[in-house]
Amino acid sequence: MSAYDVVIIGGGPGGYNAAIRAGQLGLKVACVEGRETLGGTCLNVGCMPSKALLHASELYEAAAGKEFADLGIEVKPSLNLAQMMKQKDESVASLTKGIEFLFRKNKVDWIKGWGRIDGLGRVVVTAADGAVVELQAKDIVIATGSQPTSLPGVTIDHRRIIDSTGALSLPEVPRHLVVIGAGVIGLELGSVWRRLGSQVTVVEYLDRICPGLDQETGKALQRSLSKQGVTFKLGSKVSGAAIGEDGVELSIEPAGGGAVESLQADYVLVAIGRRPYIEGLGLESIGLEPNARGVLENHRSRSAADGVWIIGDVTSGPMLAHKAEEEAIACIERIAGKGAEVNYDVIPSVIYTKPEVACVGKSEEQLKAEGHSYKVGKFPFTANSRAKINHEADGFVKVLADERTDEILGVHMIGPSVSEMIGEYCVAMEFAASSADVALICHPHPTRSEALRQAAMAVEGWAMQA
Ligand code: FAD
Ligand code: NAI
Repeated sequence: MSAYDVVIIGGGPGGYNAAIRAGQLGLKVACVEGRETLGGTCLNVGCMPSKALLHASELYEAAAGKEFADLGIEVKPSLNLAQMMKQKDESVASLTKGIEFLFRKNKVDWIKGWGRIDGLGRVVVTAADGAVVELQAKDIVIATGSQPTSLPGVTIDHRRIIDSTGALSLPEVPRHLVVIGAGVIGLELGSVWRRLGSQVTVVEYLDRICPGLDQETGKALQRSLSKQGVTFKLGSKVSGAAIGEDGVELSIEPAGGGAVESLQADYVLVAIGRRPYIEGLGLESIGLEPNARGVLENHRSRSAADGVWIIGDVTSGPMLAHKAEEEAIACIERIAGKGAEVNYDVIPSVIYTKPEVACVGKSEEQLKAEGHSYKVGKFPFTANSRAKINHEADGFVKVLADERTDEILGVHMIGPSVSEMIGEYCVAMEFAASSADVALICHPHPTRSEALRQAAMAVEGWAMQA
């Protein structure tokens, strides 16, 4: 039996960052991962392959549609889907190898196989060939992530009815792709296939897309995607699916009940959320149980069992790679006896559609519900010279600041490259900046980032360029 200070179960952004930090702090650490490669959902079947296809499909559409022609670039592109998938797979392989390198660099042992907790301080790992290893650990970190939620009546057959993993490697461009769920996955992967030529219909149970999003920003995104050709069926539910040889017939009805209509699709993507992955983890051996929503609860990374810690998608909070990373660092530092905090008020979120959406902090609806008085500063990208000259002026930056103190409470942006710009407001909010602080900072011209400053100026009514 090998003995460790820390054994981490799961090699995704939660697990691998925890392992690296433990190695840096001089702890003897092992990371147990059952997949063939490290990196978890994020690197293998999540953030990275989806961004590879979003990037490639965006360029394809720019070349195939009016965008290049309007710039005076005349080309006649043709789609090589196999090559698009191959370059994605190669990038993913190189990223997962990168984690192996970081493990070696930080003296992390990768124990290949599926881990099961077998009482406090013990993890049993079964490898693909059936070999079993036993590990002893002072501390165990559960970082087993999440998996797609299934929809009763719509069985994922991985052929015609697929989850996000299937939608990242379809063998052909669907003629009609129906996406169930207008959340982040549905909109990002729906965008990929629409750009490559599919007709895309998104069926959403609620009467709005991306329910957690600031409403004005969500409406602007829906308008933009509709203009691009995505059809939304809001307030609708799928009540049945019949799989045929080359397609699926879906039964759709209003969420509140009513007449059933049928919709024919050649592929259906189920993207209605994800749930914690805890199967076969041996939680019963340490007396841990998920709550009613299937989530393993934590208190400052600690579970209710001694020496067992929980981070990432498997526990509460937004299911985001950078949230898992934050929790990983804090958890390991706590294990090592250092002080550490995660500021859950400043975790940005991004939707990588075109235009992109990026948010941090409170939405207007949240502030209203809390009875918090706030001021709004808004600046459109139509008034930003760089966005205009690049023909990508769809969207705005909205800053919400405390009515009395002017402290920035939330920022919601839709527009070009906002994923890269939200970090500025994360820094500002971590330093408890006021909107006036950002309004007084020099930004380079001509950049889209000037819109961030102008929106901050708009909070006090002195935006100069709109
Ligand atoms: P995971 O990444 O799920 O890793 C958990 C790992 O644990 C897995 O590799 C699993 O095999 C392993 N495991 C589970 N049980 C065991 C066991 N018993 N023994 C051994 N190993 C085990 N987030 C973003 O922030 N930005 C994005 O752009 C983004 N895009 C996404 C796109 C898609 C299509 C999807 C599906 C998700 C996306 N996410 C994105 C979410 C992101 O992938 C997750 O939030 C993140 O991966 C969570 O990290 P984690 O370490 O908690 O879990
Ligand atoms: P989601 O929670 O973002 O969206 C699910 C959507 O499905 C919601 O709008 C919900 O109302 C709807 N829905 C639920 N049940 C339904 C039903 N029966 N019929 C129709 N609609 C229904 O979940 P999604 O898109 O599956 O993503 C899972 C997680 O992955 C998210 O929590 C997200 O944080 C993460 N992710 C993050 C990305 C990013 O940061 N850019 C990209 C992709 C995923």
